[in-house]
Amino acid sequence: MCGIFGYVGKENNSSIGIEALKRLEYRGYDSCGIAVFNAVKKNIGVEKVAGRISELEKKIAVKGIKGSAMIGHSRWATHGGPTVKNAHPHWDCHKDIHLVHNGIIENYKQIKDRLSKKGHKFISETDTEVLCHLIEEYATGSNGSKSYTLEEAVRRALGHVRGTYGIAVISKSDPNKIVAARMSSPLLIGVNDGEYVIASDPAAVITHTNKVIYLEDGDIAVLTKSGFRIADLNRAAQKRVEQELDWDVEEAQKGGYPHFMLKEIFEQPESLQNSIRGRLIQDEGMARLGGLEPVKERIKSIERVNILGCGTAYHAGLIGEYMFEEYAGVPCEVDFSAEFRYRKPIIDKNTAAIFVSQSGETADTLGALREAKEKGALCLGIVNTVGSSIVRMTDAGVYNHAGPEIGVASTKAFTSQLVVLALLTLYLGRLRGMSYVLGERIAKEIAKLPELTKTVLKQDNHIKEIAEKYKGAKSFLFIGRKYNYPIALEGALKLKEISYIHAEGLSAGELKHGHIALIDKNVPTIAIATRDSVYEKMLSNIQEIKARGGPVIAITTKGNTKLADIVDDIIYVPKNLEMLSPILTVIPLQLFAYHVAALNGRDVDKPRNLAKSVTVE
Ligand code: F6R
Repeated sequence: MCGIFGYVGKENNSSIGIEALKRLEYRGYDSCGIAVFNAVKKNIGVEKVAGRISELEKKIAVKGIKGSAMIGHSRWATHGGPTVKNAHPHWDCHKDIHLVHNGIIENYKQIKDRLSKKGHKFISETDTEVLCHLIEEYATGSNGSKSYTLEEAVRRALGHVRGTYGIAVISKSDPNKIVAARMSSPLLIGVNDGEYVIASDPAAVITHTNKVIYLEDGDIAVLTKSGFRIADLNRAAQKRVEQELDWDVEEAQKGGYPHFMLKEIFEQPESLQNSIRGRLIQDEGMARLGGLEPVKERIKSIERVNILGCGTAYHAGLIGEYMFEEYAGVPCEVDFSAEFRYRKPIIDKNTAAIFVSQSGETADTLGALREAKEKGALCLGIVNTVGSSIVRMTDAGVYNHAGPEIGVASTKAFTSQLVVLALLTLYLGRLRGMSYVLGERIAKEIAKLPELTKTVLKQDNHIKEIAEKYKGAKSFLFIGRKYNYPIALEGALKLKEISYIHAEGLSAGELKHGHIALIDKNVPTIAIATRDSVYEKMLSNIQEIKARGGPVIAITTKGNTKLADIVDDIIYVPKNLEMLSPILTVIPLQLFAYHVAALNGRDVDKPRNLAKSVTVE
């Protein structure tokens, strides 16, 4: 999510850090900062801004901050709004230890409470700041231990932490070095003559050197200008292989993928994990949604839910409706944000209006939010971008934590919206009488999703072959029922928006009411037919299409080999709860749309006429 960078070496110029941060800007950012150790003055100069890297650059130039060991950060907020205080680097009570972090410290509240009681002063709302104070405890010996070196203090501090991190740390009292550590957040060392860099992303390294060493989970690295060493959390020395990157900056930003969209599709196991992390209380069959705590009592008394969103976010809302009504027993309606205000919706203080948005800035959704607020509804957000307008205007909400989405076509944000809606279903359901046994089952199935998505992604080559076969078609139909009806809509939208091929998504039951007239040998249908409560009905619809000579590509549950005899092409997804199946069935459709568009030479990441965030009505 965030980008981190560190440099130690022969140069004495903070512009190295600024240039690196600029190359990380593509990941999305809301604030940034840099800390530079100056060996002559023996101090650390810090500058942070809630804005663009170019603003940071100007400030640094004015202050003349210079030095030969530095750490920098471009932030994409998760805990705490995008303010200067929350921007990294963060520091300890003595302004000695400075640290940048990419990841999420799940148990930061407990650590913060404990350290606050001991007198530590926190100035930000971030999870990251606790790391500085934990390291301080060991570096100064203020927790009763002896004073440790920076490396050892970092190691001991990390022993208290649950979550993910890629960190880079510098200290005035243990100068001219960077200590870096990794756990489930990418981190690599760039190796050059007399200089070493550490970064979360090859894009920040590539203009210095193409020789890189990827750190592994549990690695702690110490970098000085004369070399580096890596050891694990138990102090055992580690050897990691040096690799040569033959990427340019743009390729590096895409992580070696030809397009951001493909990269983001493949990030879904990780983005789903981030959406779920710390939110499942498996043995209680419950979800922990910290953002909703302040309104928990009001949530208990709501009588109905309205979900609002546009495009892909609207499709997520449609699936949320099925989930809420089937499992949480709460009546639910879904509207296009753009229509909501024009139909005099009947809502009041017993209504929860849920606004689903990746950007948090969509003008239509903001308009619907104003309407719901005016009518006294409890307004909740499911938003990916921390600190965005929808977040600020809603009463409470749940963040997606899917990371920045750069490709215009929404992919990982969509699956994260679905998993958050599933968590919310569990939360609402358990507050409204869902049994412990059912709650536990849902929690268990949600936890499996990141692994299951990996098995779907493994079929990329097969899906590409299917795309090759059908890439010339002029029109497609997508059909599904119940939970997978909105996936038919989403599959069609994905294909339309990036390949410019006409596609229509339908409830399979609607086919015979008119649309079936479109079927012939040139109009392929993609049928989402998982083995679930509506499978037999889907099978009949598929047969109706086949009887009229239409080619059918089916997405079905692994093991359902019989369907292969009926349809033309088949893609299997693993079995999971029916309500969670859309998270698995949408991935082949994202890949199919991507490959058809790429094979037709479309500008996948920036399709014509579209913008990533639609801020006009
Ligand atoms: C489709 C897509 C759009 C957005 C819609 C809402 O791939 O990206 O349909 O889903 O414009 O945007 P957000 O979620 O930012 O409110």
